[in-house]
Amino acid sequence: MKEITINQAQKMTAPSPFALLSAAGKDGKTNIMAVSWWTYLSNHPPKLGVCLSNRGYSGRLIRESEEFALNIVGKDLKEAALNCGRCSGAVVDKVSKFGIEMFRASEINTALVADSRVSLECRLTNCFDVGDHTIYVGDIISAHGDENQTQLYAFDGYSRLDTL
Ligand SMILES: Cc1cc2nc3c(=O)[nH]c(=O)nc-3n(C[C@H](O)[C@H](O)[C@H](O)COP(=O)(O)O)c2cc1C
Repeated sequence: MKEITINQAQKMTAPSPFALLSAAGKDGKTNIMAVSWWTYLSNHPPKLGVCLSNRGYSGRLIRESEEFALNIVGKDLKEAALNCGRCSGAVVDKVSKFGIEMFRASEINTALVADSRVSLECRLTNCFDVGDHTIYVGDIISAHGDENQTQLYAFDGYSRLDTL
């Protein structure tokens, strides 16, 4: 084994999980962003965590609304989902620009991504500052699933999405 950088390590540990995180502002408009740094954290109570850059727009929306949704999207969204990781909701309405179909959540005001294998509605419980990122922990308060959807993973240092 040789010394490698953190970027090389991340590239070499693909495939990484992949999801689209949705969060709504006070105006009720939903923004979506690409997320690979997420994990389940607890079963009882059900919890998950997402780790978001402090430079992005979604973190601000989550802190304001205290809720978010994680959508583990299907292969039909391969291109649109990657685009959601390449621009900010602060300047682009990604839902309309990339033609992503959304549906109403049952417990939260944030809309959910229709073409998902699993969508999880979360209520924010904690935030942890971890350097240039913040971990947002949420209680999973509702879960939706469609076994016919095939989920996407991130490859090549988060530059490509594909199924397994
Ligand atoms: C495959 C992929 C995975 C990504 N994973 C994360 C992540 O886990 N955390 C993060 O902060 N940004 C991640 N990004 C980058 C954000 O999606 C990107 O900065 C986005 O523009 C933020 O959008 P927002 O400003 O609307 O919140 C990822 C991008 C791609 C393409």
